[in-house]
Amino acid sequence: MKSVLVTGGTGYIGSHTVIQLIEAGFEVVIIDNLSNSKEVVLDRVESITGVRPIFYPYDIRNFDALRELFDQYDFESVIHFAGLKAVGESTEIPLKYYDNNVSGTVTLCEAMAEAGCKNIVFSSSATVYGDPASVPILENFPTSTTNPYGSSKLMVENILQDLQASDPEWTVFLLRYFNPIGAHKSGTIGEDPRDIPNNLLPYVTQVAVGKLEQLAIFGDDYPTKDGTGVRDYIHVEDLASAHVKAAQQASNFKGTNIYNLGTGRGYSVLDIVKTFEEVTGQSVNYKISERRPGDIAECWADPSLVAKELGWKAHRELSEMLEDAWRWQSNNPNGYDS
Ligand code: NAD
Ligand code: UFG
Repeated sequence: MKSVLVTGGTGYIGSHTVIQLIEAGFEVVIIDNLSNSKEVVLDRVESITGVRPIFYPYDIRNFDALRELFDQYDFESVIHFAGLKAVGESTEIPLKYYDNNVSGTVTLCEAMAEAGCKNIVFSSSATVYGDPASVPILENFPTSTTNPYGSSKLMVENILQDLQASDPEWTVFLLRYFNPIGAHKSGTIGEDPRDIPNNLLPYVTQVAVGKLEQLAIFGDDYPTKDGTGVRDYIHVEDLASAHVKAAQQASNFKGTNIYNLGTGRGYSVLDIVKTFEEVTGQSVNYKISERRPGDIAECWADPSLVAKELGWKAHRELSEMLEDAWRWQSNNPNGYDS
């Protein structure tokens, strides 16, 4: 049985990936410091898969703990989700983001190198494209960032590329996620923001469930079909399956492999609200407000490279993403504390 270490494995995307890794026959070991997730996720994973993933409440910045772990297990790969992701907070407390996301990854890679485990799958983001000159976005578009969160992702991309260039035994996947939404079909695993959500989908579902009063749509004067922002929303289950493929095929890959993980389709904020209302029968109270600083008009992927090289494609439609997000939110109005 192949062993894989999943950092940040009790988080939103990590937990969905852990389920699929277990279903694909991997032995999964999670480390997560629980700064943005809860241990009860492990119960939910166990009830879905029948297997309780091995869990350590470790921080990726703790080299001694990592060293012990790498001594104890023979990991073939590391899937590295652990990181902080709140863009607004990153502008207020940048050092926290550089310490956690950048220094944390350096420490993780040092432990991996010492143990001879040299396959890493890293959670990057479409944020590294900044405000793209055109859409759809290809992997070779120029990179730039507008906030410390984005800079931390780009720095880690550069660090991992430099590491790979220095030692060809490393295989690096830099997976640039577009906008992950949705939840596991069971309605028992999903996104559980700690505070008021920053992202569109959890905001919409929390308005629909009555936790929040009204959605503010950030601007209707963008140069898009209806004036609201357009994004490439991707089902978290589709996203998870790309990581399983990368872990399964890591030994066939060499070098640094940079892939967009998106569907290749863009939907506006109003498309999301209307489709959500149609598929769930819930109405969403909203108003149009000012643009949010730093937002771009449109962003969607050209996902053809990852289809060609990794054989991965997103399959799930928007209606399914919204239905699944709603099942999770309505079953768990207060997230994992419900
Ligand atoms: P999440 O916050 O739900 O999961 C991240 C997990 O990492 C959390 O469980 C948190 O407790 C853990 N963690 C954070 N710092 C840690 C540390 N120092 N040591 C150990 N564990 C730590 O977020 P998510 O949405 O599942 O995102 C996973 C990854 O994907 C992140 O790196 C994020 O930046 C990236 N990403 C997310 C999105 C998105 O929209 N959700 C988009 C692009 C990229
Ligand atoms: N939006 C609203 N109201 C809200 C929240 C969002 O109208 O309450 C709009 C935004 O203006 C945007 C769209 O909904 O047009 C999507 O916004 P999100 O915040 O859900 O997602 P973003 O595309 O802005 O940001 C996401 C991740 C970031 C990442 C970025 C680029 O959350 O971490 O994609 O990859 F940096």
